[in-house]
Amino acid sequence: MSAWLTAVSRLRTTRIEAVKIESPTVKTFSFKDSLCARAKPGQFLMLWVPGVDEIPLSILEADKNATVSVAVKKIGEATQALHSMKAGDIVGVRGPFGNSFTERSGTILLVGGGTGIAPLLFLARRLKLKRAKVKFTIGAKTRQELLFLDQLYALCGRENVLTATEDGSYGAKGLVTHLLWQLIKEENFDMIYTCGPEKMMLEVFRLAKEHGIAVEASLERVMRCAIGICGSCTIGRYRVCKDGPVFNTNQLRNIVDEFGFWRRDFNGKKIPVE
Ligand SMILES: Cc1cc2nc3c(=O)[nH]c(=O)nc-3n(C[C@H](O)[C@H](O)[C@H](O)COP(=O)(O)OP(=O)(O)OC[C@H]3O[C@@H](n4cnc5c(N)ncnc54)[C@H](O)[C@@H]3O)c2cc1C
Ligand code: FES
Repeated sequence: MSAWLTAVSRLRTTRIEAVKIESPTVKTFSFKDSLCARAKPGQFLMLWVPGVDEIPLSILEADKNATVSVAVKKIGEATQALHSMKAGDIVGVRGPFGNSFTERSGTILLVGGGTGIAPLLFLARRLKLKRAKVKFTIGAKTRQELLFLDQLYALCGRENVLTATEDGSYGAKGLVTHLLWQLIKEENFDMIYTCGPEKMMLEVFRLAKEHGIAVEASLERVMRCAIGICGSCTIGRYRVCKDGPVFNTNQLRNIVDEFGFWRRDFNGKKIPVE
């Protein structure tokens, strides 16, 4: 194991510095960690909620003051316990793990859904520094669940942020992928980055393929070791924690039988992707 991997794999404890409510089900937690502060967009960390569990989370922000942020949706035991924690409480951190999005210039389309918007916002900040022309499309079930809207408007300009909600309470009514067909006809994109529900990413992948646009998608699988040893995150020939979580067009082609269709549960049993 390299010295870097040995260092990042070690559990560090830190105190939550700030908690921000983003939506009825999502909160952003910030804390200091000098190693994760060196993360690149797309990488994830393992957050230990004392006495409960350790869970993988995408890095939303990593800055020079060693402050790191993650946006967490309340789903089950660990995320519920985390949501009840406050500034000053202790958590454990390992990481950053995995690869990252390639940071390209040119005309870029970002497609995010749910908390998948978090790593894309981190990426968009970096792409803007490279003077990329960024268009951001985001989707959620309702207006309340559309995350980071104000930050996206400020970063990309209101005209470059397209929104869709399934109930029509904000932006276009329907799925975010419905916006893409038209958008791709109107503009020549050099690259598409996507993160969110896997069915959404599969649709983005198909669309990109049809139009010959390179794509990178960030996948989720059950993570335990996060360093490629335990095998719980396997998809096809890859381990998502080590070879991913970001997969490019060629890699996605190699896993078309599973990507968007099958994943493994905590016992290693193949179950359908919802
Ligand atoms: C690379 C990666 C990045 C992620 N980034 C984010 C993020 O930025 N924000 C966010 O809210 N969520 C993110 N998730 C999902 C998050 O890890 C799960 O929501 C969380 O682990 C749920 O734990 P729980 O105990 O609350 O729920 P549980 O009831 O234990 O699990 C609910 C569901 O969450 C998923 N899950 C649970 N444990 C794990 C695990 N160890 N590895 C992978 N999936 C698990 C499974 O689909 C499970 O069915 C990410 C997952 C991965 C793999
Ligand atoms: S989480 Fe153990 S191999 Fe990926």
